[in-house]
Amino acid sequence: MDDLYNRKIDYLRISVTDRCNLRCFYCMPECGIEKSRHSDIASFEELYEMALACTALGVHKIRVTGGEPLVRLGVLAFLKKLGGLPGVDTLCITTNGSLLAGCANELKEAGVNRLNISLDTLNPEKYRRISRVGTLSAALDGFHAALSAGFENIKVNAVLIGGVNDDEIEDLVNFAGKYGITLRFIELMPIGECAGWDKSHFISGETVLKRVPGLVPIGSDGVARLYGIPGTSGRVGLISPVSHRFCSDCNRIRITSDGKLKPCLHSEEEINLRGLHGEELLSAIKSGILKKPLRHHLSEGEISGSARNMNAIGG
Ligand code: 5AD
Ligand code: SF4
Repeated sequence: MDDLYNRKIDYLRISVTDRCNLRCFYCMPECGIEKSRHSDIASFEELYEMALACTALGVHKIRVTGGEPLVRLGVLAFLKKLGGLPGVDTLCITTNGSLLAGCANELKEAGVNRLNISLDTLNPEKYRRISRVGTLSAALDGFHAALSAGFENIKVNAVLIGGVNDDEIEDLVNFAGKYGITLRFIELMPIGECAGWDKSHFISGETVLKRVPGLVPIGSDGVARLYGIPGTSGRVGLISPVSHRFCSDCNRIRITSDGKLKPCLHSEEEINLRGLHGEELLSAIKSGILKKPLRHHLSEGEISGSARNMNAIGG
């Protein structure tokens, strides 16, 4: 359905858990998060019912996120059910890749047709520093497993952080060229852990263009400005929510693992969907879509209005 600003809402992101096996320093506190009580987490049956209601309102693309979605037991069976929903033509997952080596084939068989892997660095020590507990080799094993499983159009997402990985822009672009994948540089958004950070850590997507001037513009997919990498089939995407907000093209809603509908990543508005069924559930989702704000205000220097950390939203 359309929201109040004539945006067609057809994309649902479901965060199936706020837990993660990594502790990326811009996303999660070092000590981890307080574990949600089991009873506060929506079951896969509940999440499925919510997703089904969303498809009745026009959703045809679903992305499963976390935290790290692959840490939740039963996620493969859930994905399979989502893939069978009437009208769903695109089923995606966003993962940090570290558990992918063990299940890339199963994900493909379950009907997942798009895979986004988060990888902020190609340097093993830096990977450990950023993720605090992870290893680059596990993430790269996951990436290779995804390639071997036959996923097409794999996207690797790197959040650009000034003073941390902005010296690796060229390396990451070369990585995309080597494997013929899309490397998307995401601007760090001031939300949760990094909301109060010094401005110097927030690097704009233009920095990539200055650093790699040979990139060839090939259009946009709504969220990312896309560039070809000469001599390769790889591509670069710039996702610039701060410097080039894409709110006017935003077609998404989110459901969190505790069963709340989030009309906007950066708004504190949340609508409870748990315990609702049939018409009641549909009208709660409709009212959420109609509460989708026109835009966020990050480009004016404001921090996110979200009451949640990124690990509980899933990007
Ligand atoms: N700004 C931009 N992206 C972020 N992510 C986590 N926190 C932020 C932030 N503050 C990214 C992760 C992952 C995706 C789910 O969201 O790195 O790629
Ligand atoms: Fe986990 Fe992703 Fe947050 Fe890193 S950014 S701690 S991988 S949820």
